[in-house]
Order: sequence, then structure tokens, then C-alpha cells
Amino acid sequence: MDGTAGQGTGPKVKQVMMTGKFLRNAWYVAAWSEEILPGKLLARTILGEPVVMYRKSDGSLVALENRCPHRFAPLSLGTLLPGDRVQCAYHGLEFDGSGACVHNPHGAKNIPSRAKVASYPIVEKHLAAWIWMGDKPADPAKIPDFRVLDNVPELHITKLDSIHVKANYELVVDNLLDVSHTSYLHDGLLGNKDTVESDTPVDMDGDDVIVSRYSPNATPPGMFAQFWPGHPERIDKFSRTRWMAPCYLTLFTGICQPGAPRESGTGYHGIHMLTPEDEGSTHYFFTAVRWGVKTDDETNRELREKVAKLRRFAFEEQDGPVIEEQQKVLDKATRQLEPTILSVDVGPVRYKRVLEKLLAAERG
Ligand code: FES
Ligand SMILES: [Fe+2]
Repeated sequence: MDGTAGQGTGPKVKQVMMTGKFLRNAWYVAAWSEEILPGKLLARTILGEPVVMYRKSDGSLVALENRCPHRFAPLSLGTLLPGDRVQCAYHGLEFDGSGACVHNPHGAKNIPSRAKVASYPIVEKHLAAWIWMGDKPADPAKIPDFRVLDNVPELHITKLDSIHVKANYELVVDNLLDVSHTSYLHDGLLGNKDTVESDTPVDMDGDDVIVSRYSPNATPPGMFAQFWPGHPERIDKFSRTRWMAPCYLTLFTGICQPGAPRESGTGYHGIHMLTPEDEGSTHYFFTAVRWGVKTDDETNRELREKVAKLRRFAFEEQDGPVIEEQQKVLDKATRQLEPTILSVDVGPVRYKRVLEKLLAAERG
């Protein structure tokens, strides 16, 4: 239990509400790898910057500023030419993968020195394309650890999905690090009234924040019950959510026989990758990898679709609307808001401290 957070108003906790700033020297998920198709240009705004991505003929990725230096047309409206060049749709300037203009079809065909766009490091790992938009060297070793996504049997991983949330990414992290909301917002689906009463220890692992929950002797929430044909009437439900700066979460969750070791049960790793589109909106990438699979392949095939649909429904139809309305309330506030802190908020308070520390270090 964190000494600075308690029930009700408790001691004064300065919780950073939407810093409105992004950690720039960090890797962000620009897309699932499979979204960047050969021969296609993919546009996406990341950290408020317009970006266009494409795959070169050797399969490697390119990420460029999506803004032609001539009249600022998005390069994503253009054409990918042989030689891995992008031709602007408006007046035909051509750019290579480094962002340099390599062809000007007009006049003497000179290339003005200002005719270039920014190029960002982008690499593929753990099924995603990771972009670096900071000014410090991009070190792929710093990509967050999502090895749970590597080499997973096809029927054990759900769709590589994403939604767009019209809210600051910190509101989404707040939601994901507070598993208590599953008993209310996702009642019957991911939680129920039996799972309200839970121990919620919070641990630190370096800068990572780990929030655990344990609900002994509960009835199994709907989705988990399907993972376990012939499951006992009462089970223990548990979850362990790890936040990794600035906006990554893995959720190890499941059910087991009351009092049994958790690993003997079944559940899934929930993967949540948040990328700020800008201060008021977020690209939310998610998938799930099952563990302790107790069902046959035919059932796994059905469950893969079902779990993907249920989780998308939970995020899009249950979490999303509340988070977006929260954002509207915050936008309309005429004074600085300071949240009332409950015992379930220890995780969110801790991660905001880490984030503020990292942002302060970046600001120098
Ligand atoms: S706006 Fe791109 S070439 Fe003119
Ligand atoms: Fe939720």
C-alpha cells in the first residue's frame, strides 16, 4: 500500500493530470507490422506530427514527415515509385527514404536545399512497427519487452487490433492500471461484484509499475469461464498489470482453483500499446495471448474470434465512451482539477510520478 494514497480525500497527492507533453525520446508503436503493406503509403499522426510510412523493396520500413516542403501537401496522397521514392501528388517532387528530395521535375530541375522532409527511425519487433521521434540516438534495445508476442501458436493469439480514442493517452493508462473498474464497467464480462473486494498490491521494478489484484473464491467472469470447460463453481481470479514507460501495459490475468498455484489455471496476457496521436487523442493497439490453454483447437479457433470481439467491445463500447466523456469534462474545466484518490489509485499515482520524472529529465 502506498503511503501517499488512501481512501477518500486522504493525504494530499499531487497527481499529474494529463501533462499534455510527450516523452519524445522513446519508442512508440506506429502500426502493427501487418498494416504496412508493400507498395502502399500509410499516414498516421504521432505525437502531433504527420507521418507517412512505407515498406521499401527490400522489406525494411521508412517513416517520413508527411508534409511536402513545397506546398505542404501530405506525401501520403502521392505515389510510391520504383527505387523506394515517394512522389508528391501535387507538383511531383520526389523523396527518398532519407527524406531528401531526389527529383524536381520543374525548371532547371535544381533541388532547393530546403527541399527535404524529416525521416524517423522505424524498426519491426514483436509484430509491431516502432518509431522514434526524439532527438537522442534511437536504440532498438530500448524497445519495451513484448516477447510474449513472439512465436505464439496462431490459435492462441487474437487479432492484432486497434481503436482510436478521443482522449489523452494518460486517461487510457489510468483506466488500464486500475483493474477495479472491471467489476463495474465490465460487469459480467471481465469482472463482477465478487471481484470488487481484492488485495491490490503495487510493486516497482525499476521504472515499471506493477499492480496486482487477487479475488479469492469468486464466480468466474464470463470470458474466463469459457476458457475452462468444466471449471469449478468458485475460482480465484487474479491479474498482474505491468506499466512500462511511457504508455505500455501487459496484463497477466486468469483464474485457477481456489488456493491453487496461479500457473495451474488459465487466462491470457492482455497487450496494450498506446501511442499519442496528439494531446487529445490516442491510437490504442491491443491483442491477447492465451496461456494455460485447456481447450482443443476447434474451441481455440472459436475463442480466438470471441475473445477478440469481447475485448474490442469492452474497450470500444465500455471504456472508450467513459474515457472520451472524461476528456470532455477536463477540457471544459475552468479550474485546475485534482482527483480524489482511492486505494485503487496507487498504481496510477505511481506511474504518473515516474512519467513526470522522465519528462523532467527530458526537459533537462
Ligand atoms: S506540394 Fe508537394 S510538390 Fe508541391
Ligand atoms: Fe476496461
